[in-house]
Amino acid sequence: MNSRERFLAACRGRPTDRPPVWIMRQAGRYLPEYRELRKEHSFWELMRTPDLALELVMQPLRRFGMDAAILFSDILIVLDAMGAKVTYDKGGPRVHPRVCDPDQLGFLAPVDVRQSFDYIREIIERLCAELHPDTAVIGFSGAPFTLASYLVDPGPDGDLSNLRKLADGRPEVYREILERISRVIVDLLKLQIDAGADVVQIFDTWAGKLSLADYRKLALPFSRSVIEDLSDTGVPVLLYVRNAAELSQAAASTGCDVLSIDSSLTLSRARELLGPRVALQGNLSPEILLESHQVIRQKVQTAIDSLEGRGLIVNLGQGLTPTSPVEGVSTFVKAVKEWAK
Ligand code: CP3
Repeated sequence: MNSRERFLAACRGRPTDRPPVWIMRQAGRYLPEYRELRKEHSFWELMRTPDLALELVMQPLRRFGMDAAILFSDILIVLDAMGAKVTYDKGGPRVHPRVCDPDQLGFLAPVDVRQSFDYIREIIERLCAELHPDTAVIGFSGAPFTLASYLVDPGPDGDLSNLRKLADGRPEVYREILERISRVIVDLLKLQIDAGADVVQIFDTWAGKLSLADYRKLALPFSRSVIEDLSDTGVPVLLYVRNAAELSQAAASTGCDVLSIDSSLTLSRARELLGPRVALQGNLSPEILLESHQVIRQKVQTAIDSLEGRGLIVNLGQGLTPTSPVEGVSTFVKAVKEWAK
């Protein structure tokens, strides 16, 4: 079984020789070779220049040999294409102008994705030419709620109070914003699938800040609708919600094929709650990468054993950060490869 076959089988809950492994944010600043390129180019340049983006996708694969490669890009490109200005500063990404008032809605323009995201088509086509049939290629987008949170609040690190206020006070404006964003997300993901992506992951990182009742109202219907719109592609959809313990059943009811969870919920509890229809991805804490080889290996293997290796894509519960240790990442990936039934 090659990496791509293993990855696709796991997404569908079918048996594999061992679970596949990749890591969210596997490309990025924790890698010295990323930092080298980053010295010479802005993040926007790295994303929009296919030669550079392809090199960045390949960096972690060359070092660690994950089973899947993920497009080098960012969730916020959708808001940029719709007319917002997206900057990446030291304190995290910022999106201007922010929409709090319906009169500003006009700037959220529809997007011709073939034009705006032609460079994404090129990156994925070239990636597939290089990696298929051996390695899986993952496309991705932000989820409607998480993208709207960047648009309406000063930063999703806060309590999302503007977004909640908007949804309560002007529900029709809230819906219009999320629907406009959703249309672009669906078109972007279809473009990635047409270019050859084997699966797509939708990042609803900040939906985990919502109560179950708010999640059902403010995020779930829009993610579900995006996933429904992709169903005719036949490509597996992975949905990530950080801090999803309370929300896992609702999140799985979007119709996703794989639910990517963090360590707020154990894998075995998630399987109990969700049953066999949904495969799981996750869920080790990035902090384990700081532990000794032995501890990393033991935690990885215990996690896999807890599902008997079935219907699982091994990953972290949150993306790697600039301070993640390269050695720990290497041990993590090796531990999965060494797991034996
Ligand atoms: O290997 C990969 O996963 C690379 C592709 C990728 C990036 N961002 C590159 C990136 C992916 C899949 C993302 C997703 C993303 N972006 C999410 C969801 C995943 C998650 O972590 O929950 C979110 C919330 C964002 C928004 C975003 N973009 C943030 C919060 C940041 C700043 C934090 C950080 O890591 O710097 C970014 C910038 C960003 N996105 C960088 C990279 C490599 C760093 C850019 C730089 O070099 O300055």
